[in-house]
Amino acid sequence: MAVLAIIGAQWGDEGKGKIVDELSMRADLVVRYQGGNNAGHRVVHEKGEFAFRLVPSGILFPNTTCIIGNGMVVDPKGLLDEIQELQSQGIDTSGLFISERAHVVMPYHFLLDKMEEEARGADKIGSTQRGISPAYVDKHARIGIRMADLLDVDTFRSKLASILQQKNRMLTQIYGQPPLSLEEIHGEYFGYGQRLRPLIADTQAMLHDALFERKTIVLEGAQGALLDIDFGTYPFVTSSATMAGNASSGAGLPPHSIDRVIGVYKAYITRVGSGPMPTELFDAAGEEMSKRGHEFGTNTGRARRCGWFDAVAGRFVAQLNGMNAAVITKLDVLDTFPTIKICTAYQLHGKLVHSLPATQSDLAACVPVYEEVEGWLSDTSNICNYEDLPRAAKSYLKRIEELLETPIALVSVSPQRGRTIQVQDILAEPEFDSRYPRNARRF
Ligand code: GDP
Ligand code: IMO
Ligand code: MG
Repeated sequence: MAVLAIIGAQWGDEGKGKIVDELSMRADLVVRYQGGNNAGHRVVHEKGEFAFRLVPSGILFPNTTCIIGNGMVVDPKGLLDEIQELQSQGIDTSGLFISERAHVVMPYHFLLDKMEEEARGADKIGSTQRGISPAYVDKHARIGIRMADLLDVDTFRSKLASILQQKNRMLTQIYGQPPLSLEEIHGEYFGYGQRLRPLIADTQAMLHDALFERKTIVLEGAQGALLDIDFGTYPFVTSSATMAGNASSGAGLPPHSIDRVIGVYKAYITRVGSGPMPTELFDAAGEEMSKRGHEFGTNTGRARRCGWFDAVAGRFVAQLNGMNAAVITKLDVLDTFPTIKICTAYQLHGKLVHSLPATQSDLAACVPVYEEVEGWLSDTSNICNYEDLPRAAKSYLKRIEELLETPIALVSVSPQRGRTIQVQDILAEPEFDSRYPRNARRF
């Protein structure tokens, strides 16, 4: 048994999907705990390519139970489409469940996401326009619709009627849009609820049982720590808590049940959408990263901004998450670089800083201080053992490890399943666990 939280440690798209897929072979349950279909997690293996948006990346293993946790916001139509796509690719989705407490992304959330972005003009966040922010706003304003609400025709109608009055005032009076129809939305979304009914479950109870049965659980983060609502590069962030601190409440597990927190970093860094990014490159090196790394959004197809590895932001994230180990992905993308830079500090208003400033104006003013190391100029994409990596690649990883103050457990060298070098076994049984003793009596 081990409970692992796998989090994105940069601005998203670090390769979480690939790593979670590989760990899922040995996991009994995989749970997404936040976000919605703003996520795009790509998994590549012999059966084809899969882009998960809402479904946890463990679904490719038929014996792994996958849970869409209570901390998520779910577009039911998007989910039904995703399930349909997976089934048409020959994937058994019978192990998928949705928390009855997960919030529903409603049609007005999509519209408001779009309208709010347009209204921001030059200050736009660059949202994925999947209705994520308006859905979390309603959750916290206590006017959200949850998956369980979709199942009762009358409760759903009365909640929707009262919410829609308010939303229609906003749409018509502020944004000059036509009002939405209660009958149409009620009919359509009640229909989705009926189709999803067999999957909607008390997933917290499933997880509680799994803990006592000493099962292995992987908590799959979406987005990345630098997009976290509290500690990310606010306001250019997503609207959920992306870090390990939220993995327990977003999944429905006690905080102390998490044995290890694993952060996934690219060997460089990327960002989609607006906001400061100190190590961003606007030169040939950035283009090379973009081209070799195919840095285009899995979900939206937008070009990702590319830059050198930012160890200041990296260490900030490692500390906040109490990271037990790091995974470095896409090392192979750097195979052609004669020299590689690592950002070890920022210069801000004439001073050296080693942590992430709180304001976006300060972050935008940060000038990275680089250390330059030699590249390895050879193909790493077929290497299976750490010892076989070129000397310069090992030195690069060692330096990142030192700067993050976190051991590296896995190094990914290709998008293909299995092309991940294991340095440590992150799923190993914890040495001593008094919390969930085998044969514990339950009351
Ligand atoms: P996620 O959102 O964190 O799951 O990451 P994405 O799936 O959005 O983006 C990561 C991309 O990099 C995907 O297209 C993966 O197939 C690909 N990828 C993952 N690991 C590696 C690697 O080690 N090398 C290369 N070249 N590509 C990788
Ligand atoms: P995965 O899970 C990269 C970014 C958007 C935008 C900001 C807010 O694939 O790593 P939102 O739609 O959430 O309100 O957008 O967050 N963003 C991501 N960037 N990877 C993601 O997910 C992202 N999800 C949201 O581009 O800048
Ligand atoms: Mg992604």
